[in-house]
Amino acid sequence: MRVTILEPRTADRKGELADISYYRSLPQQELVERCWQAKRQLGEQLLILGHHYQQDEVIQFADLRGDSYKLSSEAAKHAECRYIVFCGVHFMAETADILTPPEVVVILPDLTAGCSMADMADLDSVESAWEQLGEVVDTSDIMPVTYINSTADLKAFCGELGGLVCTSSNARAALEWAFARRSKVLFFPDQHLGRNTARRMGIPLDAMCVWDPELPLGGNNADTLRRCQLILWKGHCSVHQMFKPQHVAWFRQHYPDIKILVHPECMMEVVDQADLVGSTEFIIKTIRQAPPGSRWAIGTELHLVNRLKNEHPDKEIHFLSTMVCMCATMYRIDLPHLCWALENLVAGRVVNEIKVPEPTRTWARIALERMLQVH
Ligand code: 13P
Ligand code: SF4
Repeated sequence: MRVTILEPRTADRKGELADISYYRSLPQQELVERCWQAKRQLGEQLLILGHHYQQDEVIQFADLRGDSYKLSSEAAKHAECRYIVFCGVHFMAETADILTPPEVVVILPDLTAGCSMADMADLDSVESAWEQLGEVVDTSDIMPVTYINSTADLKAFCGELGGLVCTSSNARAALEWAFARRSKVLFFPDQHLGRNTARRMGIPLDAMCVWDPELPLGGNNADTLRRCQLILWKGHCSVHQMFKPQHVAWFRQHYPDIKILVHPECMMEVVDQADLVGSTEFIIKTIRQAPPGSRWAIGTELHLVNRLKNEHPDKEIHFLSTMVCMCATMYRIDLPHLCWALENLVAGRVVNEIKVPEPTRTWARIALERMLQVH
């Protein structure tokens, strides 16, 4: 398809596309119209992917919405498009780049849309942990497993050492895969997903320990590390940690028939008291299938819960916390950034491309392909 240059109103005085501050100054309705126009002009060469936590004004443009697992597998299936604009966060765009052929250009409309959990583990700290673990146990018997919310070099670390990536929707299958091959697992960066999943598999709490990257041996002694099956990185999601057991208790007291539905990134004390636990895709499916009149308190990101409330007026849906728990980094992908990225593409310019270099790409792909196989 031919790329059409947009009308001069998109361009500034020097004929260059205006910068983001110009887009921020535009009224919302104009941004919406211009996004639709750019999307039409780009046609089938463009695929917009949107995570369920994305705000409504942006997610309306997504060709496909999903949780982290679904978006990864969809990206892997769309080798024919030319551009993927990812309305999510940085690690999701990296994953899409790794799983698509090199010719597919992946764009993150705002490069500052990161993930605070992913930032809690970096390659140096994980390599140092691995080295320290090697002083007390045989690391050939430890499987490294990274949550998809991590940088590409950590996925590559796992790929190279025989490990894999997991998402919140296949964490149990991934841990079963890992324990079928080695007797111990180093799980990073989300301690909660690791702990909640392992407990449901019947692994007792005293067979798990937390690795604090700031402390020698992660804050453990050698005996603990020898004894434990699961070593959990000291990381968490700043959004899901806001849901507390007292929120569950409050809803149970005020609405005895309420069902509590939470994401597995919530702390164990919340997950233990919930009726149902699962990824964002699971949460959506559960509410969709719930009978009219049923009452729910949901512990996950605010934009998704509000969307579910609007889409299911026949059900009573509450947000589980009294705090505003929203993913502030994903929120950075807003209409001005989306419009800016799309109109640049229409004008033949790629902005904010996410490209994972070799050999990270190859090793990370191996770990991601293992993830796609275990579900
Ligand atoms: P899922 O997309 O796997 O539900 O995870 C939620 C999340 O926190 C994304 O970063
Ligand atoms: Fe990261 Fe939490 Fe935002 Fe997910 S919700 S992208 S884990 S900060």
